[in-house]
Parts: sequence; C-alpha cells; structure tokens
Amino acid sequence: MRPRRLRQSPAWRRLAQETRVDAAQLVLPMFVAEGAVEPRPIASMPGVVQHSLDSFRAELHRAAAAGVGGVMLFGVPEHKDAVGSGATDPDGILNAATRVAVAEVGDALVVQTDLCLDEFTDHGHCGVLDAAGRVDNDATLVRYREMAIAQAEAGSQLVGLSGMMDGQVAAVRAALDAAGAQQVPTLAYAAKYASAFYGPFREAVQSSLVGDRRSYQLDPANRREGLRELELDVEEGADIVMVKPAMSYLDVLADAAAASPVPVWAYQVSGEYAMIAAAAANGWIDRDRAVDESLVSIRRAGADAVLSYFAVEAAERWARA
Ligand code: PBG
Repeated sequence: MRPRRLRQSPAWRRLAQETRVDAAQLVLPMFVAEGAVEPRPIASMPGVVQHSLDSFRAELHRAAAAGVGGVMLFGVPEHKDAVGSGATDPDGILNAATRVAVAEVGDALVVQTDLCLDEFTDHGHCGVLDAAGRVDNDATLVRYREMAIAQAEAGSQLVGLSGMMDGQVAAVRAALDAAGAQQVPTLAYAAKYASAFYGPFREAVQSSLVGDRRSYQLDPANRREGLRELELDVEEGADIVMVKPAMSYLDVLADAAAASPVPVWAYQVSGEYAMIAAAAANGWIDRDRAVDESLVSIRRAGADAVLSYFAVEAAERWARA
C-alpha cells in the first residue's frame, strides 16, 4: 500500500480532503463597551478590540460581507453591581448592542448574545452570591430568566447560556416560552471547563473576578462529566450544545459529537487566540497556517460550527484565495 498516491498533487489533496471549514460555520465573538467613543485595544488579544457603537456597526458589516455565520455579543458595562443590573436593563450595553446588530445585519447573520452575569457583576461571578459569598444557583436562575426575556425583547436570535448553573437551560426555556419567545433558540455551554485559557477574556470584559469558577465550571480532568452535562442540557431542551475551550478538549468534543442529537459547537477561546497571535507575532509559527489548522482540527473532532476570534480574518482570506 502507498498512501502517498492520494497526496501527490494539489488536485489530489483537494479531492482527498475529508474535512472542510466554511465561513458560514464560523461565529465571531464581539465585545461592545458602554460609553466608548473609540474602539479600545485589548492588550492580551492583539487585533481584537472593545468596540464603540460606531466601530461595532462597521465590524458587523465586515463580518456579513465575509460570509461568517453569526456573531456572539458580549457587553462591557460602565457600572457593575452585586446582581448585574446592567444585564436586564433594556438600555444596558448588551441589549442596546443587540438591537443595533439586529437592525444592521439581522437578516444576514445570526445575532447571538452571551447570557451570563459575570460581565455585569462587581464580584465578577457568573451568578449572584448568597450570604456566605457562594454562588447561589437558584437565585441566579431567576436573574437568567429575566436576562433571557430582556435579550429576546432586544431581538437576540440565539441566547448563549455560559454560566454553568444547574437547570439553566430548562429555566431559560420556560421563561422564553412564557414570554412568547418560543422561537428564540438556546445554545447551552454544556461542557464548559474551568480553564486558564479564558485569561485574556477577563481583560476583554474588564472582569473584577477574585478567586475562580471551579464550583460551577468543569474540572479539566473530567471527560465523563462533560457528557453528563450534555445529556442534561439536551433533556432540558437545548437547541445546540457547546464544548469550551476547543483545542485542549477535542476528546470531549468528539464524545459530544458522537452522542448528541442536536448540533455541537465549540468555542476557540481568548487564550487560544492569544497563543497563536503571540507566537505568530514573534515569527515562531505561521499565523495563517496555524489558524487554518486549528479550525479544521476543531471541525474534524466533530464541531458543526466554531466560535473563533479568527472568524472574519479567516473568512476574508479564504475568499481571496
Ligand atoms: C462567561 C464567559 C466567559 C467566556 C465566555 N463567556 C468567561 C469565563 O467563563 O470565565 C470566555 C471566552 C473566552 O475566553 O474567549 N460569560
């Protein structure tokens, strides 16, 4: 046998390629900062910014022109408090940005919103705290229900439940249905691990977190538990499930892809972006090849779509090729 026969020319390699990544399968995460007059660079994510509303509009049109599948919005509020009031304020930055995005590109892209409190709380946790300072699961679900309704009213076309509270999918589904938003789907971060690779994101949203999220996000050592979380989210009515981060969790992603009756997405997170960007900036790796290899690996492991800060850069480059 000579496996090299099918690798001998560009034409052969193109025909023999098992996995492809299409721009339509990429989702661009975006940060919008309340009160920003200019886009603000994020030092640990060179090339990614906290948008002003003007730069946000421009980038939305660029994403639509590049043919990506959607955008996932994160708000950076000016004021934070214990319960994350900005998350449910109809004029809060995330809800305001959602209205802008839906008006600008809502027919071309799926406009998605992060449904979690950490950007909005002064303690930086994904939920509200009890008297002992622990994240209170069921009190947080009440806030998530309110947040889901505010996001649906703002026009969100997919709510992304990234908080890892037990029962969050069922709670949000019930709240959306009761509010007449039966058509708004849920993306459940089923297997979200307590990861060091979220580091740059904390800068991106100016998180005030002290401590860590290990009482609600998964232990990176646990593979079986990732599948269990997925089963529960599917039972609770998730339309799509997510594995996050991506590159260090391709085994979990492959398990999820094999087991899930609903689409499985993966999130190539801020630290994954930063590693590739930093190594490429030093001339240690080829940025374009590393970006493509990382994205095709995530697809090969089983992701139906990928959230990536490289989404527009990659889509534009493929369109030129
Ligand atoms: C929670 C949330 C986080 C990310 C997305 N949603 C932060 C966290 O859980 O600590 C991280 C995304 C990234 O690192 O790119 N709202």
